Amino acid sequence: MNRRDDTSLFGARGDEPLCNFSNNRTFGGILEARLDRRDVLVGGLAVALTSYFGSTLIGRASSSAQATAPDRLLGFTAIKTSNADTIVVPPGYRTQVILPWGEPLNGSSPPFSLDASGADQEMQVGSHHDGMHFFPIEGKSPYKGSSTDGLLVLNHEYVEPRFMHAATVGMSMDSEGFPMAEGARDADQVLKELNAHGVTIVRIRKRDDGNWVLEPDPRNRRVTGLTPIAINGPVRGSRLVKTKFSPDGTMTRGTLNNCAHGVTPWNTYLTAEENWAGYFRNDDQEDQKPSLPREHARYGVPSGDSRYGWDRAADGADAFVRFDATAKGASATEDYRNEPNTFGWIVEIDPFDPSSTPVKRTALGRFAHEGVVFGRITEGKPVVCYSGDDARFEYIYKFVSAEPYHAATGRGHLLDDGTLFVATFNEDGSGEWLPLVHGHGGLTAANGFADQADILVNTRTAADFVGATKMDRPEWGAVDPKTGMVYFTLTNNSRRSQEQVDAANPRANNEFGHIIRWRESGDDPAATTFAWDLFVLAGDETQSCALGGQPLNEGNIFSSPDGLWFDHDGRLWIQTDIGESSQNKGEHAVFGNNQMLAADPVSGEIRRFLTGPVGQEITGVVTTPDGKTMFINVQHPGGTTSAEDFAAGAFTSHWPHGGDSYPRSATVVITKIDGGVIGT
Ligand code: FEO
Ligand code: CA
Ligand code: CA
Repeated sequence: MNRRDDTSLFGARGDEPLCNFSNNRTFGGILEARLDRRDVLVGGLAVALTSYFGSTLIGRASSSAQATAPDRLLGFTAIKTSNADTIVVPPGYRTQVILPWGEPLNGSSPPFSLDASGADQEMQVGSHHDGMHFFPIEGKSPYKGSSTDGLLVLNHEYVEPRFMHAATVGMSMDSEGFPMAEGARDADQVLKELNAHGVTIVRIRKRDDGNWVLEPDPRNRRVTGLTPIAINGPVRGSRLVKTKFSPDGTMTRGTLNNCAHGVTPWNTYLTAEENWAGYFRNDDQEDQKPSLPREHARYGVPSGDSRYGWDRAADGADAFVRFDATAKGASATEDYRNEPNTFGWIVEIDPFDPSSTPVKRTALGRFAHEGVVFGRITEGKPVVCYSGDDARFEYIYKFVSAEPYHAATGRGHLLDDGTLFVATFNEDGSGEWLPLVHGHGGLTAANGFADQADILVNTRTAADFVGATKMDRPEWGAVDPKTGMVYFTLTNNSRRSQEQVDAANPRANNEFGHIIRWRESGDDPAATTFAWDLFVLAGDETQSCALGGQPLNEGNIFSSPDGLWFDHDGRLWIQTDIGESSQNKGEHAVFGNNQMLAADPVSGEIRRFLTGPVGQEITGVVTTPDGKTMFINVQHPGGTTSAEDFAAGAFTSHWPHGGDSYPRSATVVITKIDGGVIGT
């Protein structure tokens, strides 16, 4: 989700709270380069960008990639932008909707109903679909095996209570509103909302008629906001995660705000906890003013109301009151002051073992993880993965395992021991990975970091300390299977001032976002230096720049890149998330509804492939191993419905079922009518 404009400074209710008030450098202090870039961005953008990058990284990348690239990666006809309440794909393609919110996982009961209970929701598809992966049913490899039968594993980022309870019909309620009675929330509504979060694991199968169906299977299950989850890695047992529920600091309950995902080489699923901070509250005070520990304040845990008021559930159940992190007991094991510290992690789930306990992998750091993506894997070399912290002026991180990867033995323990780095992007196109390791770079007890667990719980503060580069909201990353180059979307940042502009974030008031990419030194994913450039500056036909130096055109203008994924042939799929407050309005009107495009990473060509219904974002993309079936998610259709229109039943979207039905997030299956590979 993307609610830039209604987010308060401290993120009381919104997402992506602006809470990096540290003083480390942005590159804006380098005056001459800034003046150059200003010229670049006002009119002469094309020429200047080409000369800026043309002789360095792009030239080298192109020559090495061209040798293996297929003749023509993009074979479809670009479609127009759209404001229609439907999915549009190019001629020659068809779509099918599956797995809408509320679909029962056993394929039959309890059937979807607004009246469904909180307990029902635990065995139904969750809400607000996001990142996902298709695991071939053989369970051997995440990318090889059946292309007609597998486990689809998908994240559910958040909920809109107004669209999920019968009790809200006719109420005046915006997308974050929820019903209250005398200051307390209905406990079953709270249960339903928690159970609609998390992850869905469901077997799906292609029938002979070409349609995909949910297949009842013992592996179909939900991981929700209540599922017991182990805490592993350096933070396990730390004083910072001891709670009344887990006095030894080894367990917590649930995963929340699961945005994008990752796929391990050992065939498990990783889910990223993004905007979890607002789900909590902490009313700790000193001198009658809010006084929160840095592991709350630096992440935007609010004082006062939590996002959904779960802590005020009428039944006072322990699983609900824990969302109030105010210190109430004599020690941390008598209250939930540390509960927020058990969120903000990457969580590993084994989709093929329904009895397995998911694991929070704390060595990968604690922040607003958008997702996680692995660098190319080599037998006998460390495992490397990248993750962005999606908030304004936050950072991009990389984890390098201590142990080398061996296919025969490589498992989740590799993610428990290693080095977390944070990126600096230098003005000259070089970059450096700075380690966040206790005792190094001033990360010492004398400077406020007691041990490695303290550094990891306070990852943002440690990254501030070493002087990482503040980015324009890092979202998904993707790794080119042919070159190993890493791409990241930087979705937008309307708060960057001219003084804060730097080479990697070159636009003040960055309304449209851009995509950055880099090549690790020596093509070694574990390298500590890299070379970077900008793949595309998004925007309309007057404020954009593609790789070749030309502006985007009618067939590929876009704003706010978010989802990003390389398919097996090396096509780069780009998904957009223009926030609900900006969609189809003002300078964003020209982009229409949120969309998906495909890019050729060598030529830089981009074509619009899909447009979604009204009020939603397109997020999550994967194909079957043969590339002939693609799955994408439509999240929060109708999210732009005003409180007044909601009361009147006049939703901006009735997707996918039409008529006067409720909008529901769902998965879309895309196939080519001639049976070919998607994108050709
Ligand atoms: Fe969940 Fe940053 O999008
Ligand atoms: Ca987003
Ligand atoms: Ca996203």
